Amino acid sequence: MKANDGQTFDYLVLGSGIAGLFFALKAAEHGRVGIVTKKHRAESNTNYAQGGIAAVTSSQDSFEMHIQDTLTAGAGLCKEPVVRTIVEEGPRRISDLIELGMRFSEREIPGFPGEIELDLGKEGGHSRRRILHAKDITGREIERALLQAVSQQPRIQVMENHFAIDLITTRKLGIGSDNRCVGAYVLNVESGRVDTFAARAVVLATGGCGKVYVYTTNPDIATGDGVAMAYRAGAPVANMEFIQFHPTCLYHPKAKSFLITEAVRGEGGTLKTIEGVPFMERYHPMKSLAPRDVVARAIDNEMKRSGAEHVLLDITDKPAPFIIDRFPNVYRTCLQFGIDITKEPIPVVPAAHYQCGGVVTSVDGQTEVAGLYAIGEVACTGLHGANRLASNSLLEAVVCAHRAAIQVAGEPQLPDASALPTWRSGHATNADEMVVVAHNWDEIRRSMWDYVGIVRTQKRLQRARKRIANLLEEIQAYYWDFIVTSDLLELRNIATVAEVIVASAMARPESRGLHYTLDFPNPDPSWAQRDTVLRRAAAEPELSREPGS
Ligand code: FAD
Ligand code: SIN
Repeated sequence: MKANDGQTFDYLVLGSGIAGLFFALKAAEHGRVGIVTKKHRAESNTNYAQGGIAAVTSSQDSFEMHIQDTLTAGAGLCKEPVVRTIVEEGPRRISDLIELGMRFSEREIPGFPGEIELDLGKEGGHSRRRILHAKDITGREIERALLQAVSQQPRIQVMENHFAIDLITTRKLGIGSDNRCVGAYVLNVESGRVDTFAARAVVLATGGCGKVYVYTTNPDIATGDGVAMAYRAGAPVANMEFIQFHPTCLYHPKAKSFLITEAVRGEGGTLKTIEGVPFMERYHPMKSLAPRDVVARAIDNEMKRSGAEHVLLDITDKPAPFIIDRFPNVYRTCLQFGIDITKEPIPVVPAAHYQCGGVVTSVDGQTEVAGLYAIGEVACTGLHGANRLASNSLLEAVVCAHRAAIQVAGEPQLPDASALPTWRSGHATNADEMVVVAHNWDEIRRSMWDYVGIVRTQKRLQRARKRIANLLEEIQAYYWDFIVTSDLLELRNIATVAEVIVASAMARPESRGLHYTLDFPNPDPSWAQRDTVLRRAAAEPELSREPGS
């Protein structure tokens, strides 16, 4: 394996979703920014976001109402000052997005012909219409607008097909007394070379970990790389037991991970059993628009009770032109699978969707490791608590990216990349046993789905823990023996994240929000406001082969 002398930036951003791009645009005002992204620049969870961004922009709404809805969904675990900051700064960041070229859907104001206002959608857990959206392809429009703005900013360099392997910290290098992040080792997927990048601040914007589960709404990039890297670097990781399962993923043998946006329920779509009977009134007064944890568990229960492989989401009551105009992407995609949503209900199942926990940060994105920031889905700021309110994650990403971009300006100048040790490939040889990687990959994701899903028990968690520990051992040996590839790196990361999720779930002896266990079916007041924080012990052996190995 070849290694180079590396590159130096003021700010090194890992990931090109909404958090990474928005940060880069802001930080470029005072420094040079390098963005490494492991696939094509638009490929991200952001790109698939449908429903929109929650923010208070209507006179019918208020900050207090948005804060209250967020706290209610979060089931006692949100940090109220963080919720307040993010909600109150939301409208200003929405204006920034519009200035950067984002086009939200608009509508004519009823009773005022020719006058236009932003069209606001409604989603589960929201007491008001407050979701700004671009039809049902909000994320695609965000990526288009931000990437266009980035392309015009000479101080930002985007490097596609660059996979961040691990963070470089003073602790790993054995220098200094504090633990400071000074760069990252990055695999250039096309050349196979591992580059050394140095920066005053490294910003994790790597998104979530849906691929840890066999059924997910997330695209392939969502392998929890940021959480795994931060954990290996000694940063605390919190609340990883709170994995959000989206209630309505399209159920079709040929559909891979296609979400049916909650906005469909916001516009009147009703959840029904396969016999066509509405069932949500038996679970929550907000019926099909109850918070997501409640809806996902209700569907799970209905499927287990009846043995059905899915439930139905029915919006056929609405006029066909409205459905086609409001949900063009959902309409077209379902039609490709032979389902005309204007005429028939949509088969849906819950699927892993969002990581509410993550790397512990302040609302400015600072982690406990100096010089290391985390923003967007990879971070745990305290906004979401035990269950994220729909469409609050894009909001959190822009507010925290903006704040982090201000914060990083205060980071000290560091030596450049040539002063850092280059990657050592050790005794790696060609990987000819990719079948082992594929097998372990399937086994982890299947075990997580079967034992660490919507409904948990201590016994199932113990089973998962045992299987994942065995797999981790095997992967560690494999990692040391073979040349690194993105498949192997992702396998190593999902295994680490799976281990962290299981450990977090086992550490919480209660049910709260998205963490529901039959052994402790109720919330325990003594656990209210208590985060589950995991930190890798400094003395633990590294799954890493930087200098000295
Ligand atoms: P992402 O957008 O996921 O970007 C992560 C980036 O990091 C990608 O570019 C990826 O390639 C890169 N990356 C990852 N690992 C590495 C590595 N090792 N090296 C280099 N690069 C790496 N939220 C809402 O608020 N509203 C919605 O309507 C909404 N709808 C959603 C619909 C779907 C189908 C999904 C999956 C999620 C939805 N969410 C929604 C959640 C929201 O989209 C995400 O939480 C948010 O987009 C995350 O943004 P991010 O910038 O943190 O990460
Ligand atoms: C959706 O459109 O249903 C997804 C919204 C979200 O995850 O916030």
